[in-house]
Amino acid sequence: MHLQDFHKANRSYNWPFEVRPLSPVLGAEIVGITLSEGIKEEIFPAIYEAFLTYQVILFRDVDLPPALQVQFARNFGEVQVHVMDQYHGYKDYPEIYFLSNLDEAGNPSGKHPDKGTLYWHTDGSWRRRTGHATIMYAEIVPSRGGETHFCDMYRAYEELSEEMKKRLRGLRAVHSLDFSRTRRHGEDRLTEEQKAQVPPVDHPIIRTHPETKRKCIFLGDHAEFIQGMNYEEGRALIEEVNRLATPDHLVYRHKWEPRQVLVWDNRCLLHRATAYDTTRERRVMRRCTVIGDEPY
Ligand code: SIN
Repeated sequence: MHLQDFHKANRSYNWPFEVRPLSPVLGAEIVGITLSEGIKEEIFPAIYEAFLTYQVILFRDVDLPPALQVQFARNFGEVQVHVMDQYHGYKDYPEIYFLSNLDEAGNPSGKHPDKGTLYWHTDGSWRRRTGHATIMYAEIVPSRGGETHFCDMYRAYEELSEEMKKRLRGLRAVHSLDFSRTRRHGEDRLTEEQKAQVPPVDHPIIRTHPETKRKCIFLGDHAEFIQGMNYEEGRALIEEVNRLATPDHLVYRHKWEPRQVLVWDNRCLLHRATAYDTTRERRVMRRCTVIGDEPY
């Protein structure tokens, strides 16, 4: 079912807040909920329903200090502590992955904090239990660039040719953080200790979303090779499917404003950040990823 149909079907859903779709493809803004005061237990199921329906949900004008961000994330499940501890921005909240291009004096450093985020990926696909929700908060945003783009993997699957669907059926890709990190941000590779904590893992290329039960493509930039296939042939197929999965018409492009919160469903989306001028502009974001299930 396409988003528009979901929206129609859900008109009768008695949302205890206003829901404003962000694009014809995916995404909705939730209006009338103040995350800053914490979430009332009885409201969360409706927020979760909106998250499943729209894949990305947005809250505006939120004061969300790190403690509240982690607390909000816990509503979705167990919050990941990222293996790359150089991104743990807060001693008391190792669950927060801190993405900032500022130097110690608070000036733009000219360095992108994580160039791996600039390529289509899904958070935590390099673990056996992959990313469920990601909750990202914008502290400082650049005037140009630094957007986050999301692509709908349900429709990407539906739009594959029957021949490609058949070809991918039963195939498993091996995802590796060491592979993607080295490829995209090789100047700051995983340490041996970090590598040992995240050995490569295999996942189906076509997965079933555990809650909506819809099929979707599950690939992205952490996927290195295909099990049982010649390495180069597998690489070529991964690149081809990543390209086929991300046509413009399935993408929602989010332009950030400070104090916005986005929550996205890693199980049925790919996302990427866009570049910005790291020598002149400031971008400071905090991210929490909730760990989900093993894909099937
Ligand atoms: C991410 O890829 O998880 C972060 C995206 C962003 O920085 O916009």
